[in-house]
Amino acid sequence: MAQRPQGVVTRGTTNPNRLRRVDNWIVATCGDQLRSAADPLVVDLGYGATPVTAVELRARLAAGVRADVRLVGLEIDPARVVAAAPAADPPRLTFARGGFELAGLRPALVRAFNVLRQYDERDVAAAWRTMTAALAPGGLLVEGTCDELGRLGGWVLLDADGPRSLTLAARLGTLDTPATLAERLPKALIHRNVPGERVHDLVRALDEGWRATAAYAPFGPRQRWLRTVAGLREAGWPVLDRPRRWRLGELTVPWSAVAPAGW
Ligand SMILES: C[S@@+](CC[C@H](N)C(=O)[O-])C[C@H]1O[C@@H](n2cnc3c(N)ncnc32)[C@H](O)[C@@H]1O
Repeated sequence: MAQRPQGVVTRGTTNPNRLRRVDNWIVATCGDQLRSAADPLVVDLGYGATPVTAVELRARLAAGVRADVRLVGLEIDPARVVAAAPAADPPRLTFARGGFELAGLRPALVRAFNVLRQYDERDVAAAWRTMTAALAPGGLLVEGTCDELGRLGGWVLLDADGPRSLTLAARLGTLDTPATLAERLPKALIHRNVPGERVHDLVRALDEGWRATAAYAPFGPRQRWLRTVAGLREAGWPVLDRPRRWRLGELTVPWSAVAPAGW
């Protein structure tokens, strides 16, 4: 018998191209994993009022990783599953009802974006565990949050062993100060931007670094961000990825560098 979808219906707000930053990061960072998967099955959990970001993720993965990728958009709201049906393109792209249990699927990759934001912080660990337990062997989960237009975002990469890394990403052309990234931290961290928490130290270091590199502003925000991230690394932050990714307005650190107190 089919399992009852786990979770609750929340606001369905979404926007075309809103998830481009995380999608591009997924193509670059999780691509090898998906390329070597026996079954290139991807789940977009909680696609919202329209399936536009699920359609976009499928297209980006097909173009950038492998053409035979199959994407299933899962929604806990049955009305949103019905509404998405005209966008289906089986077997490449389908929509179904499901929750954190992933409707019995065993995907190689799950993207769950702007889903946990409306839950309590105390629900996060269980939701993560439920989703990662459903992954295919070696599978990955990317869970995070962004603003309405996708200019600021933050996400956690997880595997069956738990969280691996945190990525912050900003559209540098409109970035006022990196402190605004704190508003788009994933649910596990958004309430931890307070003194004594490591993510607070990270956001503060990023902000101080941005101010200290004001002299780079005439060379453009990209140069300034590159210098800021390089400065964080010089100061001992275990910055992952290469300047190639930093140039895009990203910063990735191991989860251990930002895990909440008592995690
Ligand atoms: C804010 S929308 C996000 C839409 C899209 N992912 C985006 O980022 O633009 C959140 C959606 O997640 C759905 N949702 C919430 N909890 C869920 C769960 N446990 N399983 C599946 N969908 C869920 C809600 O019904 C809602 O449609």
